[in-house]
Amino acid sequence: MTILVTGSAGFIGANFVLDWLSEHDEPVVSLDKLTYAGNRQNLGSLVNDQRHLFVQGDIGDSDLVTELLSTHKPRAVLNFAAESHVDRSIHGPEDFIQTNIVGTFRLLEAVRTHWSQLGETEKAQFRFLHVSTDEVYGSLGPTDPAFSEQNKYEPNSPYSASKAASDHLVRAYHHTYGLPVLTTNCSNNYGPYHFPEKLIPLIIHNALVGKPLPIYGDGQQIRDWLYVKDHCCAIRRVLEAGELGETYNVGGWNEKANIDVVHTLCDILDEEQPRTDGRTYRDQIAFVKDRPGHDRRYAIDATRLERELGWKPAETFETGIRKTVRWYLSNQDWVTNVTSGAYREWVGKQYA
Ligand code: NAD
Ligand code: DAU
Repeated sequence: MTILVTGSAGFIGANFVLDWLSEHDEPVVSLDKLTYAGNRQNLGSLVNDQRHLFVQGDIGDSDLVTELLSTHKPRAVLNFAAESHVDRSIHGPEDFIQTNIVGTFRLLEAVRTHWSQLGETEKAQFRFLHVSTDEVYGSLGPTDPAFSEQNKYEPNSPYSASKAASDHLVRAYHHTYGLPVLTTNCSNNYGPYHFPEKLIPLIIHNALVGKPLPIYGDGQQIRDWLYVKDHCCAIRRVLEAGELGETYNVGGWNEKANIDVVHTLCDILDEEQPRTDGRTYRDQIAFVKDRPGHDRRYAIDATRLERELGWKPAETFETGIRKTVRWYLSNQDWVTNVTSGAYREWVGKQYA
């Protein structure tokens, strides 16, 4: 038995593969295009691991995906591959349309063709799990209930619109062709290997190098934070026991305003690695121009996943965020490689 994981060199995909192989011996075939967000070094500990095969390629490359499916005959395909940064989608939506919509469509087509040729038992056991986001539901008012699986889709950014389109395609492939799909819609993740363009790793990095800590607008936007390993655990559980064609919201019950997240990070850094001038990292906070169309509040109601599949997050925000800060402090080489661009040469050096 084997699984095929796309987007495996990115933040969540890499955490998923590392956790999977620390808990199972079931092999993983990794497919990743290695865009700017894909970092082969994230899977560096698996270089000599016979259970893992890394393939550089695009989910939209139908020939490559078809070949991988027929050669490795995975029992499941887990699709993490995406363009994932909202700000980039505002500056240049094209890549988001290509990967998140066209790429997912081509991946679905290749998987459908492969699946339709399987024997009855393998066909029944096969799964396509699509990893999606809470952003497809739009933005909540201050007193609105958290997003449940019944909320309608109201995406507001090119990123969330492209993810919404991919979710709809996945749904349609189940409804029309009977493809055995599962979809997860998760809130904001944080933890190891998070690319330092996203709020939490950016703030940690900027704090340590003495740069301003940029807060968009008034900093009162709310996100619902989940430690990445809890997300990975939820995905494993949905893959194992999720009802076909269904969607599962995944979240940590950790709603926080951005400014509070940044204050927490500054306070932990003040304890763990104080500034040499004795001042607090909070002094580096700078309010900057807001993100266009900035969603005000996200919150996930993960009751279904808890009730039906027995999943619960293991980390609170307080435990997870301290682990995360400590990971970045102990992995400054990783951060330097990413911020300098050296991570792009890692493969050449590693295999020289
Ligand atoms: P990421 O940007 O860190 O990683 C994405 C990975 O996909 C990269 O390794 C990149 O090289 C790869 N990729 C991009 N285009 C590709 C293509 N055409 N073919 C193959 N590989 C390609 O993203 P992430 O934060 O790890 O997110 C993973 C998934 O989880 C995404 O689908 C995202 O929408 C979803 N998600 C993310 C969060 C979050 O907080 N980060 C929350 C909920 C859902
Ligand atoms: O909700 C899930 C989504 O979370 C995922 O689908 C996306 O892939 C992921 O990138 C994330 O999107 P956000 O836009 O919420 O994450 P980001 O880290 O970019 O921003 C978090 C909040 O912090 C958001 O309100 C914008 C704000 N922000 C962000 C940056 C980078 C700042 O105030 N300053 C910053 O410099």
